[in-house]
Amino acid sequence: MAYSRIVGTGSYLPKKVLTNRDLEKLVDTTDEWIVARTGITQRHIADDQELASDLALEASRRAIEAAGIKTEDIGLIIVATTTPDVVFPSTACILQAKLGIKHCPAFDVQAVCSGFVYALATADLYLRAGQCECALVVGAEIYSRILDWKDRSTCVLFGDGAGAVVIKKSDTPGILSSHLHADGSYHQDLGVPGQVCHGGVRGRPFLIMDGGAVFKFAVKVLEEVALETLDANKLGKSDIDWLIPHQANVRIIQATAKKLGLDMSKVVVTVDRHANTSAASIPLALDLAVRDGRIKPGHHVLLEGVGGGFTWGSVLIRW
Ligand code: UT7
Repeated sequence: MAYSRIVGTGSYLPKKVLTNRDLEKLVDTTDEWIVARTGITQRHIADDQELASDLALEASRRAIEAAGIKTEDIGLIIVATTTPDVVFPSTACILQAKLGIKHCPAFDVQAVCSGFVYALATADLYLRAGQCECALVVGAEIYSRILDWKDRSTCVLFGDGAGAVVIKKSDTPGILSSHLHADGSYHQDLGVPGQVCHGGVRGRPFLIMDGGAVFKFAVKVLEEVALETLDANKLGKSDIDWLIPHQANVRIIQATAKKLGLDMSKVVVTVDRHANTSAASIPLALDLAVRDGRIKPGHHVLLEGVGGGFTWGSVLIRW
């Protein structure tokens, strides 16, 4: 039986940091409100010249170095992003060119904040099916470009960044299972409705969101998909060594942990420093917890995401 295993992780955050105090000068908000409602204290913001593929490149280089592979060994590139460099070609193809390799398939996955989980699940199935030996999976986002910086209800919530993993074919898991879902009937609750049309943009080119609806839905499905995943692997809640949920709001994360009976010491939290980096949030948090030694061989690591669409899903890993 063929499996896949993560053999290297990497991440990148743009240098510029925007604190809640900085935001107080831009919109009618306070550090106290943002911290109390979301847990966020700061976020990283990309330089005007940086593109999602640039952030992806830095994260990928670090993951490739950690994996100890040659860039030419990569047989598949998947980039999860909602903020691609351009409408097309895909950010994955642009990343491939920046990495200096050719020929392997490269494509983007558009599943918003679940994007990394969707991309990792896809790459895992690709490897299990014997289509390649080694894949690069990236989540990269520049949300600062799609925020209305006059809208306090959204602009305080997001940040920019990228995370990447290298996965290789393995005789033992590795990735134990993945579980993906979507319900498009919620597509109007979270999105950027603007359309590129006849040389302009038709509709609002900024992120809009029904925050309350997203909040309730997220807490519900993050519990459901965690239980579905444990059930599929005949594991119990106490078998989870690390929960790495999408980082949107510390209150969503705390509510999910409570429902799963998990102490917050078993949950990797980065939302306080990164804010919500959409498809990048899970690989950013994963890289942090791998590099600081929290995640150790044999640990069960549960990744779970939820986002626009709505989409949601999980990947369970035996590290
Ligand atoms: O990755 C998925 C993407 N999105 C999410 O996961 C977001 C999910 N939702 C949330 O995280 C929360 O719903 C929010 C953080 C967006 C909002 O928190 P809330 O506790 O649901 O607050 P609220 O929307 O009920 O707003 C409370 C009040 C409102 O004022 P009134 O109507 O009570 O007078 C807002 O106008 O807070 C006001 N408000 C703000 N005040 C200061 C909204 N944004 C701000 C702000 N600063 N930045």
